[in-house]
Order: sequence, then structure tokens, then C-alpha cells
Amino acid sequence: MLAATITPARRVHGRLRVPGDKSISHRYALRAARADGRSDLRGSAPGADCRSTLGCLRRLGVEITEDTSAVIIVGRGLGQLRSPAEPLDCGNSGTTMRLLAGVVAGHRFSSRLVGDASLSCRPMRRVIAPLEAMGARIESTEGHAPLTIHRGRLRAIAYVPDVPSAQVKSAVLLAGLLAEGNTSVAEPAQTRDHTERALDAFGVQVVRREGTVSLAGGQRLAACSLSIPGDFSSAAFWMAAAAAFPGSRIEIDDVGLNPTRTGLIAILRRFGARVHVDVTRTEAGEPRGTVIVEGDRTNVLSIEPAEVPGVIDELPAIAALAAHGGEVSVRGAAELRVKESDRIAALVAGFRGLGLLADERPDGFVVRGPSTSGQPPAGGVADARGDHRMAMAFAIAALAARAPSTIEGADAVAISHPRFFGTLDRLPPPPRARPP
Ligand code: S3P
Repeated sequence: MLAATITPARRVHGRLRVPGDKSISHRYALRAARADGRSDLRGSAPGADCRSTLGCLRRLGVEITEDTSAVIIVGRGLGQLRSPAEPLDCGNSGTTMRLLAGVVAGHRFSSRLVGDASLSCRPMRRVIAPLEAMGARIESTEGHAPLTIHRGRLRAIAYVPDVPSAQVKSAVLLAGLLAEGNTSVAEPAQTRDHTERALDAFGVQVVRREGTVSLAGGQRLAACSLSIPGDFSSAAFWMAAAAAFPGSRIEIDDVGLNPTRTGLIAILRRFGARVHVDVTRTEAGEPRGTVIVEGDRTNVLSIEPAEVPGVIDELPAIAALAAHGGEVSVRGAAELRVKESDRIAALVAGFRGLGLLADERPDGFVVRGPSTSGQPPAGGVADARGDHRMAMAFAIAALAARAPSTIEGADAVAISHPRFFGTLDRLPPPPRARPP
């Protein structure tokens, strides 16, 4: 476990790109593996999570090669994955495990899905229940990994999940491709819709009507070449850093701007930042472009339950804003407790370690910054608890401190943003205005 030292800053300034979108990369790889023919995926996420997905697909007999510009996947065709000789290791990745469960269900072989200690604590009943309702037989340890998914046939269902979850929706729809009939998911709240857009890109007809997504089983996927935009959830930390320091400016190029992911933009504006968004193109249904954030004022922010699904992965970055001024309170986000760490407990402990006032709520937290607590945080030590987004949130918060801080477990950024600390080092302060 490696630690990072964060030196305080007073401004950030720069133009950058972020690694490829993790959610989209998982989905394109899983579609390409089941498609007929060869798909070239450019700009795929380089982090450990998507490596886990590619590793599992290789074990399922999928031919995957990588060169400097693309991941090349030769699809095996619908229902044609091969029986894996070894367990499918999903590592730290909830998206890999939940989506893959939907992919392997309905095949003519059994498979065992395993994960690391964090993933083995995360709830899997939310995918086990609908897949069992479709006819799959799944063994687990009281709803946790390892999961053994037995061979069997699937039938279509109309599913209404009790938590809004893009992973659950995706698992059911992906299983639905091998089921007889029409499978549908009625979402309790809109979640990211990359699965729907990606299925469409691979030639599957998906119907979206009044909060319900459905597809007919048996549709084959057509291989295609696609490029993946930068990950908005990684960009979120740089956007928060710019918003936090008045006088800062960060420009992020070629980042994904799917509206189900960009709730942070309105929140940063509420906080007092100027945010400019320019959609430059749309590929495979995914809009992408440039985002510029300029820090101006710092306000009190209150995030309401209805906003949470649109910013579920950005809440750690939003919390970090409080270190710089104002106050951030969040409600209706109990889901944070079952992410890569218990993010409510981890955030509050880490912020306290940096010298901020922070309190847990059952379904959220409050972090009080300099303007409500009196002075900038002293700096100190925060433990990322093996969670990539905790490491990045603490690093952005620590920029506001009076003294250098230590982030323990900083190497967790390898999950989604391997070069995070290199980029942080390279963000220079803006050039000083010349005296007239
Ligand atoms: C993801 C969905 C979200 C998100 C996760 C990625 C996805 O999880 O938090 O990081 O790619 O579908 P839930 O589906 O559990 O909300």
C-alpha cells in the first residue's frame, strides 16, 4: 500500500485529458465478446477494473489483443462463450461481476465468479434475484461472492428493481439477450444508460418508454469499431479542484457528456463555479466534448436524494469541495455504504484526518469547510481504505490544507485513473498577470 504526499496549492490551472470511460469500456468489451466478428475499441479504460473484465472474457474463450491504439476483440457470437477452466476473477470491480453474471447466465456451462476482499463484501442479491427469476440457478455466500452460476435456460421477465442501479438493469438486459421473449426493466429512477446506447451501437433493438427499457431475446450483435470518450467520473476530481479555488481554470478535452452522468455540472454552478460545456461530437450515441471549469465563489451545497443517482460516483469529489469553503451535505445516498468501501464512513474519517469537521448520517454526510468552521484544514493523514475515489477525493481536499498531507493507500487510483498523481503534479498555477 503506497502513500502520497499532497502539497497545498492556492490555484490549479491546466488543460488535460482523462482516461477512457470505465462504464462504457466494460460494456463495449462485453458486447464485442458476444458479437459476430471483430471489434476494435479505441481509448478503452486503462485501469485495473476494465483489465478484470478483459481477463474474464479471455477465460471465456474470447480472443483479445491489445496494441497501443486499440483493444481488438474477436466475438464468439451470442450464447457461444466457452466454459472457463478457472474462476472468473472480477478483482475489485462490481461492474464486472454484476454485468458478467448477466452475460454467463443462460450458457451451457457453469461458471464461478470471484472477487477481492472488498468486492466479496458487496451485495450481489440485487442481481441474483432477477437472474433467478429468469430461471438461473446461482449459489452465493449469503448474497455475496463467490457466485456459482449454473448452466441453464432463461426466460424473459419484467423486472422492477428496488434500488436504482445501472448495474442491475444491465445484468438483466444482458441476460435477456439469451432469454425467450421480451425482457424489461422499469427503473425506480433514471440511472446511466450506457447499456442501452451500447446495445444500440452493436445492432440490438432496445425499446425505451416512460422509464422502462426492454429488448427481445435472441437478437445477435454485430461487431463494430468504436472509440471511448474520457471518463466524466475521473474528470469530476479535476472539475472539483478548479471549482474549489477561485481564480482557477481547468479545461478537459474529449470527455464523455452523456446526460445521465453529468449531474455534477449543475452542482458546481450552484457552488459558484463557471462551467462551460461544448459537445463536439456524438459517437455510438455517446455525446462527448470539452468542459471548462473556472473557480469563482464557494457556497453551501445541499445534495438532495433525487439528485443522487446522477452523481453517485461524483459524491466524493463533491464532498471535497467543502475543504475549500462552504459546506456540503448529502442525503438519500445510503448506496455509498456498499461501494468499493463504505464511502460514508471512509469520507468522514478521512476528512476528519485532514482536519475538517465532518459527520456521518445513515444515508449521507455533512462536511464543514473553512467558512463555517473558521479556518482552512490543518492537513494530516487520510486513509483511502483501498478505494480509488476516496484517494482522489482526499487529494483534492488536501490541496486546501495549511500543511502537506498524507494519503494512505493512494495506489488505489490504479482502478480508474492510474496517472492521477502525475497529472496533479503537472497542474501549474496560472501565469501571473504582468504589471502594466
Ligand atoms: C456503474 C454503475 C454505478 C456506479 C458504478 C458503475 C456502471 O453502480 O456507481 O461505479 O458502470 O453501471 P450501481 O449500478 O451500483 O449504482
